Amino acid sequence: MALRLQEIDPENDFPALANCLFESYEEPLQKFFHVFFPIHGSGSEARDEAIKEAADRLKLWHTHDPSSYWQKVVDEGTGKIAGGALWNIHQQNPFENPPPSVPTWFPDDGSRRFVEKALENHSRPRSQVAQKPHLCKPKTRDNDVLPAYTFLDLFIIFTHPEYRRKGVGQQFMEWGIKKSDESGLDFYLDSTPYGRPLYEANGFTYIEENVNIPATENPDDKWKEIENKVGPFTFWLMWRPASGSKPSEAQ
Ligand SMILES: CC(C)(COP(=O)(O)OP(=O)(O)OC[C@H]1O[C@@H](n2cnc3c(N)ncnc32)[C@H](O)[C@@H]1OP(=O)(O)O)[C@@H](O)C(=O)NCCC(=O)NCCS
Repeated sequence: MALRLQEIDPENDFPALANCLFESYEEPLQKFFHVFFPIHGSGSEARDEAIKEAADRLKLWHTHDPSSYWQKVVDEGTGKIAGGALWNIHQQNPFENPPPSVPTWFPDDGSRRFVEKALENHSRPRSQVAQKPHLCKPKTRDNDVLPAYTFLDLFIIFTHPEYRRKGVGQQFMEWGIKKSDESGLDFYLDSTPYGRPLYEANGFTYIEENVNIPATENPDDKWKEIENKVGPFTFWLMWRPASGSKPSEAQ
């Protein structure tokens, strides 16, 4: 089975990518996924609608974000997408003047307030590391400062359950590590429990555990409903320095 890494075709690939994304996070089920890609309602129609909404939103994000770079791994025998990865190659600190992020994929009620808080908590560790000066001044091997780049960020990665442990995730990682080493970019990502073995096998270390428990003083019914559904969830901020150097050496 030949599994080939390719850049996506943004005009055509998002429906199949979104489908693969849902199936990847459903097996095993990761409850936090609902925060980013909710199914409103129940039954197969609601799920189909959610996948369609996700495909449209992913395409919109990709089109409007110059730092966005999507890849897929394709099973050349069947043409099926075996996995996908969304990178952000940040040329500016994305946390300096962040655009207002309103999770419009939730209705304007307590559920949206919950998700706003969850997203704020989720990005906190990375926004803190992004303030460190070494990230803004990567150097080439010749010691020239490259002010253009800040860091490489792996935002989404998934392998369809049928293709796990066949090196799909590894292909994405090898691309990212090469990019990081060539460009002098530190490489950051937020890991789920399922991602950690892949990252640890690739020389990442974890910087911070982020136990995400959105809180409010007056939770309404909609807040409580999504809180029960999602529960607290944990990510680990993982880091691999460019060319294996320590951050202090990269300044
Ligand atoms: C994490 C994920 C992308 C890994 O993808 P994958 O294509 O199965 O990974 P690979 O086959 O390329 O694995 C490469 C290496 O990583 C390590 N690894 C990956 N998954 C592992 C697991 N479940 N247990 C132990 N080691 C694992 C192994 O060292 C593996 O090499 P090996 O198979 O030769 O032992 C996949 O499990 C997934 O999509 N999970 C659900 C979505 C998710 O949580 N994504 C991570 C977001 S941070």
